Amino acid sequence: MVVEVVNVGEYQQLAKQILPKMYYDYFTGGAEDEHSLRENVEAFRRITFRPRVLIDVSRINLSTNILGYSMSSPIMVAPTAFHSLAHSEGEVATAKAAAASNTIMVLSYRSTRTIEEVASSCNGVRFFQLYTYKRRDVSATLVQRAERNGYKAIVLTLDSPKLGRREADIKNKMVAPQLKNFDGLLSTEVVSENGSNLEAFASRALDSSLNWNDIEWLKSITNLPILLKGVLTAEDAIKAVEVGVAGVIVSNHGARQLDFVPATISVLEEIVQAVGGRIPVLLDGGIRRGTDVFKAIALGAQAVLIGRPVIYGLAADGQHGVTRVLEMLRDEFELTMALCGCCSVKDITRNHVRTERERLR
Ligand code: FNR
Repeated sequence: MVVEVVNVGEYQQLAKQILPKMYYDYFTGGAEDEHSLRENVEAFRRITFRPRVLIDVSRINLSTNILGYSMSSPIMVAPTAFHSLAHSEGEVATAKAAAASNTIMVLSYRSTRTIEEVASSCNGVRFFQLYTYKRRDVSATLVQRAERNGYKAIVLTLDSPKLGRREADIKNKMVAPQLKNFDGLLSTEVVSENGSNLEAFASRALDSSLNWNDIEWLKSITNLPILLKGVLTAEDAIKAVEVGVAGVIVSNHGARQLDFVPATISVLEEIVQAVGGRIPVLLDGGIRRGTDVFKAIALGAQAVLIGRPVIYGLAADGQHGVTRVLEMLRDEFELTMALCGCCSVKDITRNHVRTERERLR
């Protein structure tokens, strides 16, 4: 009997049944006690709606744009590593689903299919995510390959000078798959006697000296706009504006880096206010429903990115699963707009939501 999957949570259950435990744990897990992991989801639940009625919502337009690129809705695909552990087609399946859904995919630096393979697999707007490794020449080569292959922006991840402590991966002795982007550039093979080899590779490769001055270096090697991912405070958002990047992504890396950072949705407004409309602010972390998308837009995000939901869809049903996840979230978002009295993304305002702090006042 084929059971119809009707929400992201059910795709997660399917992924759990299908994936080997080591991989499922890798995809779902967070850092240490996983406090922030739970909070990322729970904080959305504490925000309620202030719906408006008697508004003609017979025609709803979900489309929006980021850096001038239009999308069918403000829901993008976050960069996540190792898609071939979820499905044999890996990032190619994800890219095809994103393109068919007319949304933007951010390809991870640690993808299992190459920049070129993903670019040639289908049309669609794509950004490329970058970690800086000690070997700056390797990062520079990958950025230039992304630019040559039509990627439209670089997303620099800031929250990973070292790898967060993910205890399930340590216990499972999680082994990273081959990263074909690095063939001929860098050996990604590390044998770790104890714990996960992700940790061993990260501590060998990641450049923990990365700092604000290095944004100039990145600008000097690419003409693409740069988004900074992993901003969680007003202070850093202001610095981001000062160094002249094209946008920031409020993100705690899906709660996989520093435990006890706040849920991203709970710091979004602080950052939106600090940025003051000078550059776009995006958000990821804990989005599992269309209502979550609406709440993020109401609190000032221009768009959101989803990480694990895409992987659950990919694990359960390849390209089709990712398409369905994007479609379900879009449909739920559309319904939320209708029931809140909003005909376009621009109609969604701060007055459509009530945060916990406001409720307790
Ligand atoms: C990630 N994330 C991530 N971020 C990044 O900049 N580069 C990467 O390679 C990865 N890899 C990665 C792997 C897995 C399995 C997960 C779950 C996450 C973080 C990702 O971009 C995003 O910030 C979060 O996934 C958003 O939270 P949700 O949607 O997963 O709750």
